[in-house]
Order: sequence, then C-alpha cells, then structure tokens
Amino acid sequence: MNKQLLGGLTAEQFLTDYWQKQPLLIRNAWQDFPELIDLPRLIALAQQDDVESRLIERRDERWLVENGPFRASRFDRLPETDWTVLVQSVNHHVPHIADLLYEFNFLPYTRLDDLMISYAPPGGTVGPHYDSYDVFLLQVGGKKRWQISSDDAGNFIEDAPIRVLRDFSSEQEWILDHGDMLYLPPKYAHYGVALEPGMTYSIGFRAPTEQEIVGKFLEYLQDELRLTGVYGDPERQPTARPGEIDLAFVGKIESMLTQLTWTDADVRKFVGRYFTEPKPHVFYTAPDDALDFDEFAAQAQAQGVYLDLKSLMLYEGEQLFINGEELEAEADAVETLRRLADSRRLPAVQYDDAVLEALYTCYDYGYLHVGKI
Ligand code: SIN
Ligand code: CO
Repeated sequence: MNKQLLGGLTAEQFLTDYWQKQPLLIRNAWQDFPELIDLPRLIALAQQDDVESRLIERRDERWLVENGPFRASRFDRLPETDWTVLVQSVNHHVPHIADLLYEFNFLPYTRLDDLMISYAPPGGTVGPHYDSYDVFLLQVGGKKRWQISSDDAGNFIEDAPIRVLRDFSSEQEWILDHGDMLYLPPKYAHYGVALEPGMTYSIGFRAPTEQEIVGKFLEYLQDELRLTGVYGDPERQPTARPGEIDLAFVGKIESMLTQLTWTDADVRKFVGRYFTEPKPHVFYTAPDDALDFDEFAAQAQAQGVYLDLKSLMLYEGEQLFINGEELEAEADAVETLRRLADSRRLPAVQYDDAVLEALYTCYDYGYLHVGKI
C-alpha cells in the first residue's frame, strides 16, 4: 500500500504539532488504494436498515435532508448536481474500509470512531459547518474544494434541517484530488464543495460531552449500587402543617445520598463498558449452526480468528471488555486476549484452553469469527 498518511510526519510529530491544534493538508496521503468502494456499493449500503445514511440536497438556497434507509429508486431521480449521499460507519460492513480506519491506530480505539463515506456530483455539499470532533477528510476520486476557517462563532442558520453556518468566511482554501487528505481539529469550520464526482472518506473521532459521560456514569452507578436501607422515622412528632416538607426529612434524604460513592475500580469498569458499547443500531448475529467447543478450538487454531467488523474490544490492566460487557478470562489468557483487542485478530497457532474458552464465548455471541476476513 503506497501511502504517507501523515505526509512524512511521524505520529509523534503530528500529535505534538497538529492534533487538536491546527489543520494539516496532506497531499498524496494515500495513492494506491487496494480497493475502492464504487457508487452502487455505497448506494446499496444506504438501503440497509442497519446502516445510518443521509441524502442532502441543496435546491434554490434551501437544504433538503432525508434519512435512510432509502429505496433503490430514490437514487434514480436525483439531479446531475448539488447533492451528497453520506453513509456512516462503512467500516462495520466493508473489510477493506475497516483496514483503512485501523491505519489510524496510532490513536487509541477509545477515540477512533468510524469511517463515513460521502459521494457527491459537482456542486454537492453539506454546507459550511463545524464538528465537535477531530476528522481526517480523505478525497477518493474526483475533486473537492475545501475552505476552512478557525472562527467557531457558531452562528448556525435557524430552521435549517442541518447545521449550516450563516456567516462563513474562508481563511484558507484547497482543491483536494484523489488521495489528498485534510486533518481538522474540533470546531474548525469547513466547507467542502465537489467539483468533480468523487467521495470523501471521513475518519471521525469520538468526543463525548461531559454531560453524556457523567450521565452514563450515573446510569452505571444506578445498576451497580445495592443499598438496603428504607426511609424510617420512629422519632416522628405530630404536625399541624402536613403540606410542609420538614427539614429533618430533607436531612435524612441527604444522608442517604452520601452513600452515592464509587471506587477507582468502578470508574475503570465503567470506562471499559461505556467505550465498547455498540451504537443503538448495531447488532451482532450469533452463528447459525454454531460449532461446539472442540470443533471451534480445532478451527480457531488451524485458521486463526478475527473480531467482527462491528465489535470493539478494549482492556485495562487485567480487565477485558467487548461490546459493552466484561469478558471473563483466566489470568494466563489475558495477554493473548489483549493482543486480540489491539490487532483485532489472532493467528493460527496453538492456544491454551483458557484463551479458547474466552474466544468461544465471543464466537457464540457473534462477536468474533473463525478464519480470515
Ligand atoms: C463531506 O463528506 O462532504 C462532509 C464531511 C464533513 O464535513 O465532515
Ligand atoms: Co464536517
């Protein structure tokens, strides 16, 4: 694969000087793609109900947005220009796109989100906007003009069905050709307009808000907390104002709330579960005619195993997590399973039963498969 993803910079240089700081244009980041997604394949994905997709048209200064899944015939009645179809998480469905996403694994999987692909004929655009996360925009075929601006004043057009900046004034502009890539930090305004029919592969990162993380942690605590007490007041005196909430009552509730505590172990477990949790429309398919453990062990050792494209596996110390759950494994299996999390596959060699048992659990849920992708 002929590529210079970061235009000759080391990952360390890129992270120090650009990541979350300033844009970077990389000419010829990737030249010889091993495989390209063609438009019919992208349109076929936009028809699946387990795929998030959108169609954005600009007509007479108005924005028309439709969400997928689409009927095939929808794409027969599109104009020659001025529309964009966007398909989210193509890496969940197309192995070579997943490989491309994981080329960015100098950043951890807790941050790497998905690879979205958009196709646009000339004039196709989603308008000037900014995103709350970092993104690499890789041009694949065609040409797109990108204008960018550091101004994040966030003056979005009201009532538009998509977030489009009202006052966007370009500070820098480039025409991206096949294989060129533009890195943008969060909240950097950008405006891409297709000049020749082509695709943009957006390598997106995950940046949950504090509100979301803390809210999810409270949900975690709610599930984990086991409090046994019940409100009681044997010292109660008669009241002349039964409508009043007395402060002694409030005080008792407040002291109950002091039991809302957590440990480092809770935080670690929460992080592992939360950051491997599948998105709402993601489902795993258990194998139809599942192998029994011995058959699985024989095949896994003969052919190797790989994680399902939709699976996400992480670890922290001895703890392993996959798709929102803890994966139990004996201590001597952990190192091999960490390798599976890092490289998303394990080679065809002999494994201990402890490893095979954990792999079998994943296989049984459809989180992992035998062989090569
Ligand atoms: C596009 O693919 O044209 C839009 C991608 C983005 O702006 O994030
Ligand atoms: Co964007």
